[in-house]
Amino acid sequence: MDPIDRIAPIVDNESAFRQACKRRLPSVVRVNTVKSTIRQAKAALDAESIDYETVDWNPRLLILDKRGPGNLWPYFHGWLHGQEEVSTLSAIALNPQPGERILETCAAPGSKTTHCAALMNDRGLIVGNDNNLGRLSALRANAERLGLTNLAITNQDARNYSIKPFQGTFNASDGFETFDRVLVDAPCSCDGTIRKNPDVREQWTKKHMNSITQIQQSILQRAIQLTTPGGRVVYSTCSFSPEENEAVVDNVLTELPCQIMTWKPPNGFETTQGETQWNGEMFDDSLQNTHRVYPHYNDTGGFFVAVLEVTAWKIEDRLSQVSNLRATMDISLIGSLRMLIRGSLTSVQREKRWYTGGKIHTESNYQFGISSHSGRRATGNCGCVQIIFRHRWRLRRLAYESSEPDRTTGSHQPMQSNDLAIWRQNDG
Ligand SMILES: C[S@@+](CC[C@H](N)C(=O)[O-])C[C@H]1O[C@@H](n2cnc3c(N)ncnc32)[C@H](O)[C@@H]1O
Repeated sequence: MDPIDRIAPIVDNESAFRQACKRRLPSVVRVNTVKSTIRQAKAALDAESIDYETVDWNPRLLILDKRGPGNLWPYFHGWLHGQEEVSTLSAIALNPQPGERILETCAAPGSKTTHCAALMNDRGLIVGNDNNLGRLSALRANAERLGLTNLAITNQDARNYSIKPFQGTFNASDGFETFDRVLVDAPCSCDGTIRKNPDVREQWTKKHMNSITQIQQSILQRAIQLTTPGGRVVYSTCSFSPEENEAVVDNVLTELPCQIMTWKPPNGFETTQGETQWNGEMFDDSLQNTHRVYPHYNDTGGFFVAVLEVTAWKIEDRLSQVSNLRATMDISLIGSLRMLIRGSLTSVQREKRWYTGGKIHTESNYQFGISSHSGRRATGNCGCVQIIFRHRWRLRRLAYESSEPDRTTGSHQPMQSNDLAIWRQNDG
């Protein structure tokens, strides 16, 4: 299947789009402000008699009239870094600040990580992670050439990224549990890179694309878990496919506490809004606030960028978690006691939530009224158990101790319709 034919019907000015996809990409370098200034870098290019043009919307980007700038001395000394114009959008959208803690989950060979480090004035911490060790050595070499000192590199599968290397050795204040901002520049089917790699057009398959979407989803989910509530997650790809873009973001909106932020690209850079439907599938309206870039807009490659804010859990989210737990408890009690036991949540006595290891932990102390029946005889209310749940996303541990039934009524009334009111009351 031709990825350009597949996407063309949703692109405005289809013929300009098709023409642009056939043109070669300009050669662009980013001035590395950790080691140089725009003025110094330009002077060095002048000294080498290399013609360049400054990109209208970003003075740090220079279009060279020379391909393969890697053998120029300002490049060798880390004043310049070859980076596609459109790919600088990811770090600009992430907007990392000096002194913050930043993670890039899929970082090699490092264009966006090194761009983030420059935006941070080389202060704070940026962690560049990738699961491909070979590609990580390119990231390391780039970081050394560009003179970064605030970079740590990890080699993990971003789908289950462990924060352990950054947790305190002796006590919690030694380390940290979450990042201020996380960039997911996801592995993708790369149909947007067709101007750089024309072979993509023949090699692209829907089967391959479908196999990546699950990975993209898991990486984005983990990124949200690793971000401090109130922090920012940017999801970007160099793909045109809504399956890899809007559908992936739509999925996390329903699964995790986050929302799409309205973000404006720099003046002079043209984008169009994300799709809210594709092949009969509807996405949340807020997907309109994501950005698609087609090659004919700014003479670049294709790109997608979504900016998400991580929020705190809402009370309704927790309520639905409790309903799930209730179902779990019913089943496990039936299994262990080998008799039909029906139980209902009677009250919530205490709830504590905290964030460690990038996960939301909840400890809840429930009183659980039980009435039991065997097939032939009803035995009525048989007691009350105090149950403490401690769980990270899912129930991990179940501990209980017996307690006396309510002395006033002698029974345990199941709580049903007023669940929400009781939650509000206990939520303080
Ligand atoms: C689009 S490239 C990243 C480009 C990079 N952000 C840059 O600007 O230079 C996607 C990267 O994801 C990495 N990757 C693929 N699956 C991964 C996973 N499960 N965990 C971490 N990295 C992964 C690939 O090795 C590849 O380097």
